Amino acid sequence: MRTQFFSLQLLARYLITVCVAENLTFNNPILSGFNPDPSCIFVPEFNDTFFCVTSSFLVFPGLPIHASRDLVHWKHVSNAFSRTDQLPGMAFLPKATSGIYAPTLRFHDGTFYLMSTLVNQQLPRVNDSRWDNFIITTTDPYNSDMWSDPIHFSFPGFDPSPFWDDDGSTWVAGAHTAAYYPGVMHAPLDFETGEIGDIIMPWNGTGGASPEAPHMWKRDGWYYLLLAEGGTRENHMVTMARSLKIQGPYEPAPQNPLLTAANDTTSYFQAVGHTDLFQDADGQWWASALAVRAGGSYGKDPGPYFGNLPMGRETVLIPAAWEEGEFPTLTPVSGTMPGWKLPAKSLVKLGEGQLNGADDVITFQRGSSLPIHFVHWRLPKQRNYRISPPKHPNTLALKSSVLNLTAFDADFALGRGQTFVGRRMAHSMFRYSVDIGWDKSLTKEAMEVGVSIFQDQAQHFDLGIVMLKTRGQETMQPHLRFRGHSETPYRGRANTPENSVLMPRGWMGRKLRLEIEAVNSTHFEFSAGLAGSKDRSSEKRVLGHCKGTDLVPYYSGAIVGVYATTNGKHGEQAFETYVSNWRYTGLRQFRSQEDVDKADMVKG
Ligand SMILES: *[C@@H]1O[C@H](CO)[C@@H](O)[C@H](O)[C@H]1NC(C)=O
Ligand SMILES: *[C@@H]1O[C@H](CO)[C@@H](O)[C@H](O)[C@H]1NC(C)=O
Ligand SMILES: *[C@@H]1O[C@H](CO)[C@@H](O)[C@H](O)[C@H]1NC(C)=O
Ligand SMILES: *[C@@H]1O[C@H](CO)[C@@H](O)[C@H](O)[C@H]1NC(C)=O
Ligand SMILES: *[C@@H]1O[C@H](CO)[C@@H](O)[C@H](O)[C@H]1NC(C)=O
Ligand SMILES: *[C@@H]1O[C@H](CO)[C@@H](O)[C@H](O)[C@H]1NC(C)=O
Ligand SMILES: *[C@@H]1O[C@H](CO)[C@@H](O)[C@H](O)[C@H]1NC(C)=O
Repeated sequence: MRTQFFSLQLLARYLITVCVAENLTFNNPILSGFNPDPSCIFVPEFNDTFFCVTSSFLVFPGLPIHASRDLVHWKHVSNAFSRTDQLPGMAFLPKATSGIYAPTLRFHDGTFYLMSTLVNQQLPRVNDSRWDNFIITTTDPYNSDMWSDPIHFSFPGFDPSPFWDDDGSTWVAGAHTAAYYPGVMHAPLDFETGEIGDIIMPWNGTGGASPEAPHMWKRDGWYYLLLAEGGTRENHMVTMARSLKIQGPYEPAPQNPLLTAANDTTSYFQAVGHTDLFQDADGQWWASALAVRAGGSYGKDPGPYFGNLPMGRETVLIPAAWEEGEFPTLTPVSGTMPGWKLPAKSLVKLGEGQLNGADDVITFQRGSSLPIHFVHWRLPKQRNYRISPPKHPNTLALKSSVLNLTAFDADFALGRGQTFVGRRMAHSMFRYSVDIGWDKSLTKEAMEVGVSIFQDQAQHFDLGIVMLKTRGQETMQPHLRFRGHSETPYRGRANTPENSVLMPRGWMGRKLRLEIEAVNSTHFEFSAGLAGSKDRSSEKRVLGHCKGTDLVPYYSGAIVGVYATTNGKHGEQAFETYVSNWRYTGLRQFRSQEDVDKADMVKG
């Protein structure tokens, strides 16, 4: 009796210890917001730490590196692309779908290797200048400055991935440009000089569109080749093949696709694919992948084609198994993943940034620099951004650009740069606000400072303080203007709402708070009020709404931030304005359709 009682007590204690010490549940996405095309590794030599890189397209700094010790808490530790002179050509790239494509991160012999491509989408696929492939390396992934300048190599495609063979030879695998024939490309590559050998095409995939993002492993004598197929949207899938020789022939896994959400109308996570595989200290395999939180309507209807959330493609974590001599198996993705043995809770101490999903309370203290998760669109003119200049403590001083966020034909900046700095929208529902000292700054027509939710130059909604002539009058007066531009090839029409009102008399000369809030699962609200006012609602004026579906994320994802422009007039740096009290607060994270319905019920 007594012994039994004791053993029950012991068992209970054992169970409690196991459940407390080891988190058995994790949530997806692990990297929320614009974090597509993940490539992740586990590095025992760096204190048993996981590292991921994601693609960044036209934002700078780019190639964010996140690190985690427990697979739950992911800290943004550096940006591999943090100096404009690493890839100066990005300033001139046309088209919102240009920029930095899928990177691969690997660790070999004490060094981190990152391969990626700077793509100019406007050049024909057969023009090799479209694909600027490069390698950058570091021995310290916690320090942005330590990432090297790129070594460029000539490769007629994208999504390059390095591979070290047993015999010491080094290879690149990549996706061949569709204009010749779509498929996987292999070539011997010297990672130090960029010298490349003859390209071979060992596998074309299983017949899905756009075979891309290949990665290679050698296990039990087999070369395993992992691939994304079907295109990065509703038909996205993960496939694999293997061969006893690196050159092939490759035999596809009989169970292909290894994972897909195509034709799965019940999954809130759609477009699942673009995976990488890594193994933790306990031998458990994991896959990283991209996914879109869009629900089962994704791809079915031209309206919510991309879902309501303009965050686009995010990074999810998938438990995997990979038995000897077999192809791996992958677990379907959901928002809550229970029953998995995760490494014990532990936070990464080193590195420059904050946890993915953390709020911003940024006061621009003198001597500080912009947080590493702040981004510009293409390359910034650094002289347009100063923190706490003399007489303006605790501000980010912005000097205006001639270009506004829309610019010429909505696709170009031609190296001139737009004064804009923002951060990724990283929650289904959030509130973003800044205070703006504008009074002495705005003196001439069309001078404007404001906040924007920005997908690209053809899709953004702004709330600005702007100098305009009032109807029937010659003098310039400050106005509040809500304005949007949403133009996509998926719709016949452009949506360009505009609403401007004269600045309320009581707000003249005062600092204003401009705010963007996701008020429900479908809409963002733009409002203005007096800065520092205790009661947020008393003086707040709502100037407009926009819909998430008007910010279609092709490859990237929505950013919220501040801009200063003269809308084509008065020359560069015509005025300076002062931004303070930068806040971003995550309010809700939808991880299932039920979460969406619940949020709308509460609000409705
Ligand atoms: C366990 O994981 C959940 C889901 O990701 C997370 O909310 C929680 O903070 C984690 N707990 C610990 C102790 O790490
Ligand atoms: C390595 O991990 C341990 C255990 O979490 C931690 O105490 C230590 O500070 C870490 N060291 C470094 C260099 O991050
Ligand atoms: C490829 O594009 C570059 C840059 O626009 C151009 O200079 C070059 O002539 C093009 N090459 C071919 C073969 O079309
Ligand atoms: C890939 O497709 C091309 C063009 O159809 C073909 O010439 C080539 O033989 C294929 N490669 C393999 C490995 O099947
Ligand atoms: C999805 O369904 C379509 C139509 O039945 C089919 O052609 C396609 O192969 C399916 N895709 C996947 C990945 O199963
Ligand atoms: C969200 O709020 C907007 C603006 O008030 C409203 O037009 C829309 O119907 C709401 N959507 C839902 C799903 O409640
Ligand atoms: C944006 O700037 C362009 C000139 O670069 C101008 O034509 C356009 O009207 C501006 N948009 C607004 C709303 O002022």
